[in-house]
Amino acid sequence: MKIFRLLYISRCASKDKFDAETMIFKISKHASEKNQALGITGAITFDGNDFAQILEGDKNIVLKLFEKIKLDTRHDNINLVKVQENVERHYAAWGMKKLDSYNYDELIRVMED
Ligand SMILES: Cc1cc2nc3c(=O)[nH]c(=O)nc-3n(C[C@H](O)[C@H](O)[C@H](O)COP(=O)(O)O)c2cc1C
Repeated sequence: MKIFRLLYISRCASKDKFDAETMIFKISKHASEKNQALGITGAITFDGNDFAQILEGDKNIVLKLFEKIKLDTRHDNINLVKVQENVERHYAAWGMKKLDSYNYDELIRVMED
């Protein structure tokens, strides 16, 4: 089934590294559970300052979630990098995969599928 996919980047609102690491862990865990129920999958990566996240699934549902995420005060400077229509799902097994180390390149490669 063809899906819609977007990639955005944003800046973490917290300047405290420990606080930020705890935050990304909590966000990805919560997101995994919530996203799966919405048929949304994706991946998130964090370098201590910036987030990069892919969301994929039904277009309207993804855009609605993105609107909600944009309102989250835990990050700011949100920039939509790229969208893709009618593509194959890449992160089928993941509600929200947290990449182990900062790997923006992986996300960019996926957006070139
Ligand atoms: C960088 C970042 C990424 C997020 N990604 C997701 C996500 O993929 N799915 C999700 O449900 N919430 C995500 N959130 C959290 C949402 O902004 C929001 O807090 C959450 O959806 C609210 O969940 P609730 O309805 O259970 O209170 C993210 C937040 C941030 C800061």
